[in-house]
Amino acid sequence: MKNIVVLVSGGGTNLQALIDAQHSGRITNGAITCVISSNPNAYALERASKNGIDTEVIRRRDFATFEEYDEALTELLKSRQADVIVLAGFMTILGKKVIQSFENRIINIHPALIPSFCGEGFYGLHVHEEVLRRGVKVTGATAHFVNEICDGGPIILQKAVEIQKGDTPEILQRRVMEQAEWNILPQAVNLFCNDKIKVIGDVTEILE
Ligand code: GAR
Repeated sequence: MKNIVVLVSGGGTNLQALIDAQHSGRITNGAITCVISSNPNAYALERASKNGIDTEVIRRRDFATFEEYDEALTELLKSRQADVIVLAGFMTILGKKVIQSFENRIINIHPALIPSFCGEGFYGLHVHEEVLRRGVKVTGATAHFVNEICDGGPIILQKAVEIQKGDTPEILQRRVMEQAEWNILPQAVNLFCNDKIKVIGDVTEILE
């Protein structure tokens, strides 16, 4: 049984999708044991508490340097014996120490089809604003491992979502969540918990 630790910053709908998947048996061989938030007011913390999951808060601004923050988050994750760490709308950049300590064990959900609309500055609603500005006809979501390149780690799963006439960033964000994120994030976590993801350099192979 793998220990899943989820990092959040906001509403936590992706966390909810993970909790629901665990309860319905779509995630096997793993359990969410802790939710860590960068924001003490995140609604995601309430979702965790309602489901009897431990919570922690760690804020970048409570540390004098980024290195101290990186060290503290690494120690917290180790003390929680995390086997897999899921970034479910976590809006603080991770440091080298965390990334190296948990190589190919950190899964992020990104609200676009990487390598489009990703990298620094592409987070939350901004991604969908840029998608609509560029006029692409298809977007989607990507579940990937985290490495030291922002949104550059090995891709695990992707799902496409069509842009529709009249879309606003908010409408599109919701459709990408419903049709893509809430499906592929639990799927990716389930694959990881069942040792079904093989990483070969920059790419992954999903084992049958
Ligand atoms: C989600 O759309 C997630 O993909 C995005 O933030 C939202 C969080 O929503 N993450 C990023 O943009 C990371 N670069 P949630 O708190 O309801 O899960």
